[in-house]
Amino acid sequence: MHVVVNAAQSVDGKLATRRREQLRISGTEDFDRVDRVRAAADAVLVGVGTVIADDPHLTLDEEDRRVERLRNGRPGNPARVVVDSTGRTPTDARILDDAAATYLLVAASTPAARREALEAAGAEVVTVEGDGEHVDLGAGIGALAERGVDRLMVEGGGEIIYSCFDAGVVDELHVYVGSMVIGGRDAPTLADGEGFTESFPRLDLTGTERLDDGIVLSYEVGSD
Ligand SMILES: NC(=O)c1ccc[n+]([C@@H]2O[C@H](COP(=O)([O-])OP(=O)(O)OC[C@H]3O[C@@H](n4cnc5c(N)ncnc54)[C@H](OP(=O)(O)O)[C@@H]3O)[C@@H](O)[C@H]2O)c1
Repeated sequence: MHVVVNAAQSVDGKLATRRREQLRISGTEDFDRVDRVRAAADAVLVGVGTVIADDPHLTLDEEDRRVERLRNGRPGNPARVVVDSTGRTPTDARILDDAAATYLLVAASTPAARREALEAAGAEVVTVEGDGEHVDLGAGIGALAERGVDRLMVEGGGEIIYSCFDAGVVDELHVYVGSMVIGGRDAPTLADGEGFTESFPRLDLTGTERLDDGIVLSYEVGSD
């Protein structure tokens, strides 16, 4: 499985405001780049925090004639994945519509009635091992691989991105740095979670590109 993390942050490293409101950090040139990364993926993954904050759709614009070319002949949209230990995804979330398959990775403790409601709303609910509180991302990625996902794009938020690094599953990172300051000690950052105190993931810078009024930094994750 090849895992690509993509996010847009302010110069001070924030993904959104302290109110967790969605914010336009990049622009049309970067949206095009993100579409290309999405199109190359078999599935696009977010945490339930992002679903609740942003209600994202995570699909490509079907009206856009480039989609078929971007998808390299593969039909439709990449699958969508929500990491959601207790099944908090709202049943009317846009991510559950019929534009693509949606896997909800939940922990064993999710009540049966909640699973049934989410399945009725269009999700495929997948039970994944964990620490009892959170889905184990390594195990979740294994479950996706069993369902034919070879290339996964992770679109956030900060808790999930940290857990992906912590689980050692990230191969590539692309960060759009928008020319703005958001601030706020409680605003989500690129990697939240507990934070590392040792064995920090090391990155190899593979590219820089100016888009809109910002810059995309591309990295491969180092092996040390
Ligand atoms: N600028 C960008 O590119 C971008 C992209 C995406 C999101 N965002 C912003 O980021 C914010 C949301 O980020 P967030 O950090 O609050 O939420 P998140 O990372 O989207 O989701 C975190 C939630 O996922 C669940 N989870 C399950 N297993 C997990 C695991 N192993 N590790 C971590 N989380 C796990 C947890 O909820 P349960 O315990 O209930 O399972 C956790 O609270 C929003 O403000 C959104 O606007 C920005």
